[in-house]
Amino acid sequence: MEFKNKVVDLIKTQVDLPEEKIFALIERPKNAEMGDYAFPAFILAKTLHKNPAEIAKEIAEKISDPAFAKIQAVGPYVNFSIDHRELISKTLEEVLIKKDNYGNSILGTGNVTIDMSSPNIAKPMSMGHLRSTVIGNSIAKLLTKTGYTPIKINHLGDYGTQFGKLITAYKLWGNEEDVKKDPINSLFHYYVKFHKEAEEKPELEDEGRAWFKKLEEGDEEAVSLWKWFRSASLEEFNRIYKELEVEFDSYHGEAFYNDKMAAVVDELRQKNLLVESRGAQVVDLGPDKNPAMILKSDGTSIYTTRDLTAAEYRKKHYDFVKSLYVVGNEQSAYFEQLKEVLKKMGYDWSDDIYHIPFGLITQGGKKLSTRKGNVVFLDQVLKDAVDLALKQIEAKNPTLPNKEQVAKEVGIGAVVFHDLKNDRLDSFDFDLEDVVRFEGETGPYVQYTNARAQSILRKAGQTVTIDELDLSDDWAFAVAKDLADFPMTVAKASEKFEPSIIAKYALKLAKSFNKYYANVRILDENEELPARLALVKATSMVLTQSLNLLGVNAPKEM
Ligand code: ARG
Repeated sequence: MEFKNKVVDLIKTQVDLPEEKIFALIERPKNAEMGDYAFPAFILAKTLHKNPAEIAKEIAEKISDPAFAKIQAVGPYVNFSIDHRELISKTLEEVLIKKDNYGNSILGTGNVTIDMSSPNIAKPMSMGHLRSTVIGNSIAKLLTKTGYTPIKINHLGDYGTQFGKLITAYKLWGNEEDVKKDPINSLFHYYVKFHKEAEEKPELEDEGRAWFKKLEEGDEEAVSLWKWFRSASLEEFNRIYKELEVEFDSYHGEAFYNDKMAAVVDELRQKNLLVESRGAQVVDLGPDKNPAMILKSDGTSIYTTRDLTAAEYRKKHYDFVKSLYVVGNEQSAYFEQLKEVLKKMGYDWSDDIYHIPFGLITQGGKKLSTRKGNVVFLDQVLKDAVDLALKQIEAKNPTLPNKEQVAKEVGIGAVVFHDLKNDRLDSFDFDLEDVVRFEGETGPYVQYTNARAQSILRKAGQTVTIDELDLSDDWAFAVAKDLADFPMTVAKASEKFEPSIIAKYALKLAKSFNKYYANVRILDENEELPARLALVKATSMVLTQSLNLLGVNAPKEM
């Protein structure tokens, strides 16, 4: 229930003003006795040639709605009052009865593929891949809650010319034991060294190309090295996915499409879409757009070729109703191109492809780049976050049992929450101290609020029922209003593929609840107690659900 929107809808039926205008005009009456919302009628006086009070009276007489206990004109205003008691008891009842199903809806059905995470093997997973992982994971949960079936696909970057370079580097400087002990760091070290040395010795690049060609031709040594690098990298990635509790439905990466690309290239040729441009095969996309390269002049495929093949494969295999790609905004033009090529091929399902872009994570204002070796090691970030969480827990609650487990949920939850609370497209700076704070706009703050609610329930030591739900104070009303907003918030976040809507909502609910806690003596023994506990429990349920929708755990004690 978003009351302000309701007010807009009601006013809209009576006045000839655009919706946004009405929305902007609506006020909060200064005196709460006067109502919860007010529409000022001044603006209509000129066009209607009547005085505002008269207009307000006419409007008020014509509208009614069960959501509002009273709609009446007071001077030049149309005032709307919500029945606080009714809203509180109805909302608490609904949350307590529906439990985890509270907020469920059917916005649509069918498979939605989500291309997410998709790191490049033999390189450390970057903060960008972390963003893709947690955004994709949360979108999957939101889609499930709103009727769809998400299919999470890890489109691993496990193919391309860089593997020729890596093999070259390994053959020059590689050490088998090192790779076995610490695969990604060692391989990454060779990769960085390759780029440094190649600046002075360009012949290294030729050697890299030659090894890639061998790999493409199925050369035994090249293939077995590549397989080894891939599986060793994947093992490390899986450790991070385990920490984050993210699972995938498919690990079909770029290499999976190797033997399927020829058919797509043929299809492009048959549909007369391929033209030659400086030796390469491209699809022309019109005079003011860059052509899409499909085959390089040496006949080898590129990223685009594999993505086109993957798109067709996904349509055939999953018959998706939507196909999402959670990839940084630096690839926006690329995905535009991909869609256009598919459209030219005659696939109207190209309209169901959505690039879900996101902004950069910087550190100290600087961009992180793998190639220069200026990179944050994600497993280190997660470890540091857990350590920092543990320190704070030790200071706050030294007798807490299973501290390590809780620290894990708090530390990792903090990183995930931080990643999701900003609008997807915003770039932001990553500062660990800031991320793991227990106060402010952080995951630990929301978790702590939920743990506080749980501790109140433990102290009360009685079962919460829906028999007594009568509360009327303003603090309870503020909490109940937030709780009532949850279903609409989930729907909006799902429709916009925007987890930050949920993160911001969780912060808002946590704040309202903490105000309630600060102003109402919850555990005081009187007839209101059962209703207060019902509010505490309902809040904890919805905070927990919100955190879980983000992929964050909600410890009961911390
Ligand atoms: N591996 C790529 C990168 O790290 C991301 C792949 C995104 N998915 C895709 N289907 N292109 O930049």
